[in-house]
Amino acid sequence: MGSVCTRPTPIDEPTQQQPQTTSTTTHTADSHSTTQTTTTTAPTATTTTTSTEMSAAAPTTTTTTSSKAKIAVIYYSMYGHIAQLAAAIAKGVESAGAEVTLLQVPETLTQDVLDKMHAPAKNASVRVIEDVNELEQYDGFIFGLPTRFGVMAAQMKAFFDKTGGLWMRGALVGKTAGVFFSTASQGGGQETTALTTLTQFAHHGMVYVPIGYTDQSLLNLDEIHGGSPYGAGTFAGSTGARQPTPLELGVATHQGKHIATITIALKAGRAAVASHKTE
Ligand SMILES: Cc1cc2nc3c(=O)[nH]c(=O)nc-3n(C[C@H](O)[C@H](O)[C@H](O)COP(=O)(O)O)c2cc1C
Repeated sequence: MGSVCTRPTPIDEPTQQQPQTTSTTTHTADSHSTTQTTTTTAPTATTTTTSTEMSAAAPTTTTTTSSKAKIAVIYYSMYGHIAQLAAAIAKGVESAGAEVTLLQVPETLTQDVLDKMHAPAKNASVRVIEDVNELEQYDGFIFGLPTRFGVMAAQMKAFFDKTGGLWMRGALVGKTAGVFFSTASQGGGQETTALTTLTQFAHHGMVYVPIGYTDQSLLNLDEIHGGSPYGAGTFAGSTGARQPTPLELGVATHQGKHIATITIALKAGRAAVASHKTE
């Protein structure tokens, strides 16, 4: 980032995303009791805590209202395989109670080149994310990318390469991130492709959430399937004719639910920490 480079702000230092807290302490006429009302406004959560401290044990009431965790499923798909996994992942995110936004990264190839590659038209109902600053509003992300020679497709890399400004202000620090992928073949680079996203996540200070073997069908040896502890995956075949199987789509839905559940827990935990700090 050259000489203009500044250190991204850690999650526990004030940033645009940090909760704004106002605290009012009222001492009652009775010097044995103190009433404190704290209002914490987190980026997407509002927590109101009212506690009454007394010299003897006294009842404490806590009311917490949190808005839904927001997760963006962001993908590039040339032939539609990743797009199918993305839709399955979105279902899983919703089933966990989070809000999901499905987005495509911009195409970098010209229509002429896409025609030569026999790429079908993109799904026009999925919005293309033009402004990377939109990422600030989400609590977590699940990125989908087809492999190109064992690494992420250049379209996704070009998208990440636009996030330098977000990096400079630490805007994505602490947000969850997962990955799903597609290759033509077994051995075509599912894990190596996933690994190429980890440098982006690490530099942004994002929290990578793998799925491990939380979906036991990843251990299924009775049928050919993509996916791994790194995330959901599918095989397109050398002609692109193979389509995601029910097992692969099931792992994708599971991944959406898994990452959403962890994101919801992190968000609730941060709201609790923020309110605890102000007590
Ligand atoms: C330039 C290029 C390089 C590719 N490299 C690989 C590769 O290294 N390994 C592999 O298994 N598939 C490779 N593929 C196949 C793509 O990964 C496959 O088309 C993609 O996973 C299908 O996903 P999509 O339908 O979402 O575009 C390559 C495809 C292209 C166009």
